[in-house]
Amino acid sequence: MKDIYEPEYVEILFDRMSESYSRMNNITSFGFSEKWRKQCVSEVDIEKGKMVVDLMTGMGECWKFILKKADSKSKLIGLDFSYEMVQRAEKYRAKLKPHTIEILRENVFGNSIKDESADYVVSGFGLKTFNDNQLRKLAFEINRILKPNGKIALIDISVPKNKVLRIFYLFYLKNVIPLLGKLFLGNPEIYKMLGIYTQNFKNSEGVFQIFNNPNFEVEYLSYFFGCATGIKGRKI
Ligand SMILES: C[S@@+](CC[C@H](N)C(=O)[O-])C[C@H]1O[C@@H](n2cnc3c(N)ncnc32)[C@H](O)[C@@H]1O
Repeated sequence: MKDIYEPEYVEILFDRMSESYSRMNNITSFGFSEKWRKQCVSEVDIEKGKMVVDLMTGMGECWKFILKKADSKSKLIGLDFSYEMVQRAEKYRAKLKPHTIEILRENVFGNSIKDESADYVVSGFGLKTFNDNQLRKLAFEINRILKPNGKIALIDISVPKNKVLRIFYLFYLKNVIPLLGKLFLGNPEIYKMLGIYTQNFKNSEGVFQIFNNPNFEVEYLSYFFGCATGIKGRKI
C-alpha cells in the first residue's frame, strides 16, 4: 500500500495540483485561506531588517503579508520541494518589487538554511501532509534554523470540534471539494487527498505537543471555530 506521507508521494501530488491550487484554494475556502495566512504572519509581528523563512512556501502565498513588513535590509527565504510550485513561486517573485527573496527547492528535512539564521519561521497549510515522526523532525529543523528568541507561527486547516459544523465540514471536504477538483482539474482524486490528510491531521494539538518542549515556548491557535488551527511561539 502506498504511504501518503512519503515525500515523493506528496511532491508529486503538489506538482499535479499546482496549476489549480490558487483558484481552488480561494474558491473552496470562501476566501478564508487568505485571512488565515494573514493572521498566521501577523502572529510573529515581523520587524524590519530581519530574516523570515516561509516553510512549505508553495507558490509564495504568504509572501505578500510578509513583505508588507519588509524593508531593503529584510530577507525572505521560501522553501518548497515541489518543482511545479517553485516554478510558479519564481514567476511570482519576478513580478514583485525588488526584494531579497531566495527560493529553495528543497525538502525541509535536509534543507540548507544555516543554523540559527532566521528571526522568524512561518508556514501556511504545510503541516497536514506530515505524520507525527515528520512533525518531530520539523520541530528539530525549526529549532536548528531559528535564532534564540526567534519566533514561529504555523497553521493548517483542521476539523472543527463542534459536531454540527464537523458534519458539514467533512461532507464538504470529502465530497464538494473533490467535485470542484474534477471541474477545474478533471481529477477529483488529487483533491480527495486533501480531505484525507486533513481528517488524519484533525487539528494542531499534536503539533502543539511536539513543539511544547524545552526548546520552545508555544501557544495554541484556533481560527473560525477550529476550521484552522496552529501554534505560535518563540525559541527559548
Ligand atoms: C498546502 S501547500 C501550502 C502552500 C502555501 N504555503 C500556502 O499558504 O498555500 C503545502 C506545500 O508544502 C510543500 N511540502 C510538503 N512537504 C514538504 C517537504 N517535506 N519539504 C518541502 N516542501 C514540502 C508542498 O510541495 C506544497 O507546496
